[in-house]
Amino acid sequence: ISTAEDLRTPLTIKIGEFASLTGKEATFGTSSHEGTVLAVEEINAAGGVLGKKIELLTEDNQTKAGETANAVNKLISKDGVVAIIGEVASSRSMEAAPICQDNKIPMITPASTNPTVTQEGDHIFRVCFTDTFQGAALANFAKDTLKANKVAVLTDVKSDYSKGLAKSFKEKYASVGGTLGIELDFNGGDKDFKGQLTAIKGDNPDAIFLPGYYNDVALICIQAKQLGITAPIFGGDGWESEALLSIGKEDMNGNYFSTHCSVEQGTPEMIAFVDAYKKKYDGKTPDAMAVLGYDAAKVMADAITRAGSTESAKIRDAIAATKDFNGASGKFSLNENRDAVKALVFIKIEDGKFKYTATVNP
Ligand code: PHE
Repeated sequence: ISTAEDLRTPLTIKIGEFASLTGKEATFGTSSHEGTVLAVEEINAAGGVLGKKIELLTEDNQTKAGETANAVNKLISKDGVVAIIGEVASSRSMEAAPICQDNKIPMITPASTNPTVTQEGDHIFRVCFTDTFQGAALANFAKDTLKANKVAVLTDVKSDYSKGLAKSFKEKYASVGGTLGIELDFNGGDKDFKGQLTAIKGDNPDAIFLPGYYNDVALICIQAKQLGITAPIFGGDGWESEALLSIGKEDMNGNYFSTHCSVEQGTPEMIAFVDAYKKKYDGKTPDAMAVLGYDAAKVMADAITRAGSTESAKIRDAIAATKDFNGASGKFSLNENRDAVKALVFIKIEDGKFKYTATVNP
């Protein structure tokens, strides 16, 4: 029997999620969503938050520009969510951030690394590092590990992530004495990169920096091999997807990327997460987006618990106060810019597999 009080007080805590579940970057949204769902199930099984179950309301932006705004407006105005989780790609998180900020709805992006995402305002947070850190780590890697004195750069001008990461890489690489070779552009979704690759081959760089997403990266690496390019190609977290290996196959070997964590890192939190994820998703191995989707939901639940309330200002303050959080991705704190301060890992692609090679601490 429901009383008048029950009818006035929501029985669940509604959290919104937007993700690219279909379309060009479907593996991003699928993975982060799976991680988020697993976290919410665990939280609810342990009694929920403030005595209530979390209800996750998910919207698919289909990887399309413009769709995120619709999704987020619906979650806020129609569904009445108290906070939002999303998404992986920076350009789409940047579409959501001003809407969440204007409506004073706290938003946590699991994996968007472009510095400007959280600069949108005091309601926007991330549980990943930024590309200022990642770009610098990649520049040091090029100089110290690859021993590359000249690097060519190939940027996806349709992606804020790619442009931002190229910029921070170039600044740091120049400051450590590296020489920038030829710099060329492409548009995410292009299929033929032979023109740019031929020009790069002619420039004869020691290595090629490719801050792109997995589907474009795989095609570029295949075409580079066809043109006889032997210089290693390296990039950032946007490379991470099993689809990179299934599309690029042996043409991916000998290349490198940086990312958020490795499922091989033996922390108790990662081991427990990988176990639970495999159990829930038919033995599937999680990727970084799944780990970060999980951590984003856990940080959100932890903050609402500490806030003792679902009032927006209190949730906001509690997320901002997140310190020494033992996430599955690693231990992290949020700094004054609402960005997570945490380590990054390097992966080498060998024998058609991702191999963890090194960790860089902040
Ligand atoms: N960091 C990327 C972006 O900001 C997204 C990404 C995160 C991709 C993690 C893969 C893995 O767009």
